[in-house]
Amino acid sequence: MAKLKFSHNDEEIELPDGSPLAEICEEAGVPFACTEGVCGTCVIEIKEGEENLSPQTVEEEDFLGEGNTQERLACQCKIKGGCVKISF
Ligand code: FES
Repeated sequence: MAKLKFSHNDEEIELPDGSPLAEICEEAGVPFACTEGVCGTCVIEIKEGEENLSPQTVEEEDFLGEGNTQERLACQCKIKGGCVKISF
């Protein structure tokens, strides 16, 4: 199991390895709009564990800049395992 932590309230949520972040982030209050990596509404900041997320999608490279591991689009990335701490 992987673990997603929210820095604003120290909440920790366990989820299966390989899970998309979208649903859990939406439940936590991250705003979404297009859900296709185009609008940038769902940007989250990665505080810890960026290496535990799936590689940037083309949409993330276009919107956030190639190699930007401190910000991700919550509608695009998945958690591979381990622990990731985010804020939004
Ligand atoms: S919801 Fe539009 S980029 Fe994620």
